[in-house]
Amino acid sequence: MGVTIKDVARESGVNISTVSRALNNGYGVNQQTREHVLAVAVRLNYRPNRVARGLVTGRSHSLALLLSDIRNPFFAEVARGAEDAALAADFDLILCNSDLDAGKQMQYVSSLAEKRVDGILMNSVAALNRAQREQLAGLGIPIVLLNRSVGGGPFSTVCADNETGGALAAQHLLDLGHRAIAHITGPRQHGNLSDRERGFLRTVRAAKNRVHAVVLRGDFNFTGGAELTAKVLDRYPKVTAIFAANDVMAFGAARTALERGLKIPDDLSLVGFDNLEFSSIIYPPLTTIHQPKYEMGQAAVEILLRLARGTESQTPEERRLGVKLIERQSCRKMA
Ligand code: RIB
Repeated sequence: MGVTIKDVARESGVNISTVSRALNNGYGVNQQTREHVLAVAVRLNYRPNRVARGLVTGRSHSLALLLSDIRNPFFAEVARGAEDAALAADFDLILCNSDLDAGKQMQYVSSLAEKRVDGILMNSVAALNRAQREQLAGLGIPIVLLNRSVGGGPFSTVCADNETGGALAAQHLLDLGHRAIAHITGPRQHGNLSDRERGFLRTVRAAKNRVHAVVLRGDFNFTGGAELTAKVLDRYPKVTAIFAANDVMAFGAARTALERGLKIPDDLSLVGFDNLEFSSIIYPPLTTIHQPKYEMGQAAVEILLRLARGTESQTPEERRLGVKLIERQSCRKMA
């Protein structure tokens, strides 16, 4: 059994409530007593029991980050930003992978609620139906959605400007003279993806010259990128450029090109989305849309902590972070 608050009280010669107030900077403890109690606590190597404290305060000093799959390095960077911001405020961060499975997602949420987490960040989670949104709102736990927007719902959201990102990718390919472009992407119900697609299509449709644009949907991962690229090459041989909805899909596209003996960018130009660290390391380095991943994690925790404090505005906030084109060597200029 470790040192308890009772041991500190006995050794300091004061009662438990005074020790608690001295250690928590509470009221009614003079400076001399506070310093004495702190010195005793340090000497005895006392560690407060947060679980016991949580039973009294109803708080656990922990936040949860629920995301689809940490194996996509995009999430690792978001998680770092979230964790650093949580730690700076003396909160722990619990990581949960939902695999875009709505059932698993809701199971995690109820287990986290039972653990009395102080807030939940839901990053790129499965689309929420009305009942699930109501269930989440009814939990009474602050929730911030990352990478998803619920259009005026009860939750705060943090997103990159995905539509502008899609437009920047399309414009870059148009400026290089591409006139047959494929966009490979994931399921339609993911708002961040449909925003990228909308920006892409709006831009190609507004082009001065006629552009042939196709959109193909599949799994939003490396394998999906590889398979969709094979379909593009088989069905649309005139396509000279592919805009992949994220960098991991672009890596899959590059793998298919390699297997078919095609060179990037000589035979096929490629643009990704995310700007993962690997994207500058692979050959050829990938042209992509940068989204501020670390800052998105930080911003989401910042909003969550404001909501968790409960003393400030509880009005849902929609924060949109800027994106930019990072031009590398995976696209060529058409003759
Ligand atoms: O759902 C994961 C994807 O959404 C990431 O690759 C990133 O593009 C994010 O916006």
